[in-house]
Amino acid sequence: MATPHINAKKGDIAKTVLMPGDPLRAKFIADNFLDNVKSFNTVRNMFGYTGTYKGKPISVMGSGMGMPSIGIYSYELYNFFDVERIVRIGSCGAYTDEIDLYDVLLATSAYSESSYAKVQSGSYDSEYTYPTASLNENIEANAKSLDIPIRKGVIHSSDVFYRENFDDYKTIYKNHNAIAVEMESFALFHNANVSNKEAACILTVSDSLVTKEATSADERQNAFTKMMEIALSLAE
Ligand code: HPA
Repeated sequence: MATPHINAKKGDIAKTVLMPGDPLRAKFIADNFLDNVKSFNTVRNMFGYTGTYKGKPISVMGSGMGMPSIGIYSYELYNFFDVERIVRIGSCGAYTDEIDLYDVLLATSAYSESSYAKVQSGSYDSEYTYPTASLNENIEANAKSLDIPIRKGVIHSSDVFYRENFDDYKTIYKNHNAIAVEMESFALFHNANVSNKEAACILTVSDSLVTKEATSADERQNAFTKMMEIALSLAE
């Protein structure tokens, strides 16, 4: 049955969903990597597609930017469409010069100042949420067999992209050991947890808060391919 934000039927969506932030990136993945593609959502242009990768079913759908947006889509996928696992594939900004542009990161936890988890379930009072350990193990194994190096670490999920105090990141790096920043994982991991489902987050470094370097759109597309190959090999 359709939800307010996803105009699909149960069965239209695979057990495994890859979620880039950008719905056009979801379309790119479907167009270039999947066979037998069917669109399952166009509401608000938050495109979603189901297809097969090496013969195995997998879906891909945009999450939008920020925790409220991924919070809505991931909750509906888990609870109304029988989705078992969501893997966010996004970009992030590095908080340390030990990380280079285009590095691929795997989140071991998400630190956030966000009230998302507390507001969503009432009782949650931690500043950290966690991905599914077995899913992370599969991702690491896939990366290894594809010969793509990945780096593991705490990710900062921020509600704010443009901070008045740019240097806030230094304190967050120091106090929470967060190696990079994005804006969605904390809510995704929380929703998986309350829904008894699985989640993980793979990121490509698109910019550095330390060196202020940034990537071009073309370069990002190439680097993104490595991360996608790791995620696509989760199709089962
Ligand atoms: N801040 C927040 N989210 C991001 C960034 C950033 O610098 N880079 C990529 N996603």
